[in-house]
Amino acid sequence: MRLTFQHVSKRFMTMRGAVDAVHDVSLEIKDGEFFAILGPSGCGKSTLLNLAAGLEKPTAGEIRFDDRVVASPERRIFLPPRNRNVAMVFQSYALYPHLNVFDNIAFPLRIAREKDAHIKMAVKRAAEMLGIENLLERKPAELSGGQRQRVSIARALVRRPEVFLLDEPLSNLDAQLRTGTRAELKCLQRELKITTLYITHDQTEAMTLGDRIALLKDGSLVQAGTPEEMYEQPKTTFAATFIGSPPMNLVPAKVKEKDGRITLAFGDATMVLPREKTEQAKQLKKQQVLLGIRPEHVTLRSEASGQTLSGTVTAIEPLGREALLHISTECCHILVLTTEKDLKTDERVFVCFDPNRVHLFGPEQQTK
Ligand SMILES: Nc1ncnc2c1ncn2[C@@H]1O[C@H](COP(=O)(O)OP(=O)(O)OP(=O)(O)O)[C@@H](O)[C@H]1O
Ligand SMILES: [Mg+2]
Repeated sequence: MRLTFQHVSKRFMTMRGAVDAVHDVSLEIKDGEFFAILGPSGCGKSTLLNLAAGLEKPTAGEIRFDDRVVASPERRIFLPPRNRNVAMVFQSYALYPHLNVFDNIAFPLRIAREKDAHIKMAVKRAAEMLGIENLLERKPAELSGGQRQRVSIARALVRRPEVFLLDEPLSNLDAQLRTGTRAELKCLQRELKITTLYITHDQTEAMTLGDRIALLKDGSLVQAGTPEEMYEQPKTTFAATFIGSPPMNLVPAKVKEKDGRITLAFGDATMVLPREKTEQAKQLKKQQVLLGIRPEHVTLRSEASGQTLSGTVTAIEPLGREALLHISTECCHILVLTTEKDLKTDERVFVCFDPNRVHLFGPEQQTK
């Protein structure tokens, strides 16, 4: 099932005025795709999911499942959830406490008045897929958080939905269980090939699970693309710092042109830009530019040169294989990932940016 959002907006009218929870979002989610919706709290992720499920009506735009319009205020079309064949999993597992695991999973099939024999088979199959077939007799209270979440996923899958909608399903699990369940979920989705919309505010989760990611901010779409595209070509400083951990460094810089060569000046350093970046840089002359560089693309030098920025190590966070250095320079604070082990705080260092890994953000692309 292909899912299309075309200029979709959702405005809530509240006592304190209008809230634009989703604003003019256009997205196409391909058949069988695992699509992650990422963004900070309050950016409209759940609202977007609820619009897909039919739990909310859009105030503008159109939502289509394949070629069928499921919501369009302009055309006065709105299909309720029961006519959309979608299944949803929420952050809170929302299991029925008085029913055992078998009956919880069987619930949607009983509502649909399926035959007992079919129910038994379908529940068994879903439980096996999620590795909970030995828990069928237990009540939710007798399960761990991870087990409960699997039951709620099994319950969502048992009806073989055409679209699978997951709203932060793993956020109640501890870190280890989360990583495990994440991998299982990805395998399961690959196997079933159900079009999946997966909401998260965790960029690692979006990057590891999503075939593609949409990043939202304040109800608007900032950027959509594959994890690689989002990481390699962030369109704004918001995308650049939200995706990737530790976040990208942003350094105030000036574009200069001398003898036909385009250079970037920042702090006490100057950098000659590679040819493929000069066109963009030329457009940004005389403007407030932010140079973006990821901590893994900054190297340390033992001596100063025209290309290095001098600074002082203010903190060292050991991360096992690498360490994260906090470096204070005259123009900014810089994070550096390094395997260098014998640095100390207050030590004077010289950092160098890889010119091929530098991103430039003009005023239009800053903090949006
Ligand atoms: N029923 C509602 N009435 C009024 N405002 C609402 C309603 N539902 C959501 N909002 C507002 O719309 C915005 C988006 O909310 P939404 O729940 O979609 O965010 P979210 O990205 O899912 O956040 P979180 O990560 O915290 O779950 C917020 O400002 C929220 O306060
Ligand atoms: Mg939410």
